[in-house]
Amino acid sequence: MMLLLRLPPLSFLFIFFFFFFFPISHSIPFIVLHGIGDQCSNRGVKSFTQELITYSGVKGFCVEVGNGSWDSWFMPLKEQTDVVCQKVKKMKELKGGYNIVGLSQGNLIGRGVVEFCEGGPPVKNFISLAGPHAGTASVPLCGTGIFCVLADNLIKGEVYSNYIQEHLAPSGYLKLPNAIPKYLENCRYLPKLNNEKPGQRNSTYKERFSSLENLVLIMFEQDTVLIPRETSWFGYYPDGFFKPVLPPQETKLYTEDWIGLKTLDEAGRVHFISVPGKHLGISEADMKKHVVPYLNGKTSRNDSTTKAGFRRMRGFNQRFIHINKME
Ligand SMILES: *[C@@H]1O[C@H](CO)[C@@H](O)[C@H](O)[C@H]1NC(C)=O
Ligand SMILES: *[C@@H]1O[C@H](CO)[C@@H](O)[C@H](O)[C@H]1NC(C)=O
Repeated sequence: MMLLLRLPPLSFLFIFFFFFFFPISHSIPFIVLHGIGDQCSNRGVKSFTQELITYSGVKGFCVEVGNGSWDSWFMPLKEQTDVVCQKVKKMKELKGGYNIVGLSQGNLIGRGVVEFCEGGPPVKNFISLAGPHAGTASVPLCGTGIFCVLADNLIKGEVYSNYIQEHLAPSGYLKLPNAIPKYLENCRYLPKLNNEKPGQRNSTYKERFSSLENLVLIMFEQDTVLIPRETSWFGYYPDGFFKPVLPPQETKLYTEDWIGLKTLDEAGRVHFISVPGKHLGISEADMKKHVVPYLNGKTSRNDSTTKAGFRRMRGFNQRFIHINKME
């Protein structure tokens, strides 16, 4: 008090302008949730996380589920979500809230944490890169590798059977437009996450999801892994048909506001972003433009696009061959 009284009158103005132009940063940390077939120790995710830390100047952590690649394929998504829920509750750094950066399948785990994690720290911004939010109509074959023989055999099985639902993560969000009743009844994860089941919609999930400050939905223009790629924006096929792809605003999830997507959108908190690139192939410029501002709170938007410097990350890789369950 004494000190303040002794300051010359103009210094108050100075102090005011100082904090006006250089606001104290209230940066909160972020976590990265990787995609299928990937793990935090892999070079791609590791450098992605590190680059986000460097560009944003905030703390960031890649949160692993089980032993990584293996569990990302074979642990059901509900269990993967429970693992992450327990982990984020134990991380002291996240107590005051945090942001989530989801990569592909990791987005469904992240959204599960937002909606299902009892007593977890609050999630502020959710930045989704190529998330199969409305499902995917085709599962990529795993390809070659130690466990791909096992994965591929499961993929070719009856996806909505109990056995596959318990043993193959992507079966939790495989949504076949011509098998919607089976999907709603037997698919264990996405129908619950998206509040799709009539009569079983839980307003708590909606409340939690619509409390996000920002939802950034990044779709990749050359994504051939997610079918359709518009699922990254919650766009999808109408029940019963493989075309046309409905834009998010024309899906029932949106119009009937099952999880609060419409609420968020009308509040100006959903950012539908489309970037050039293959699945998860984000350029450094687009990271800086569409991801970093939400991590360090500097969201004033300025436009510039470069198409250089695409990265490649594992998990749901381009080289995978699709097996369409319809055939
Ligand atoms: C990963 O953990 C699972 C159990 O969740 C186990 O069955 C599997 O053998 C482990 N794989 C590797 C490569 O460690
Ligand atoms: C909805 O979910 C919340 C949180 O998981 C749970 O406490 C509540 O019992 C659920 N309500 C219904 C009607 O299932």
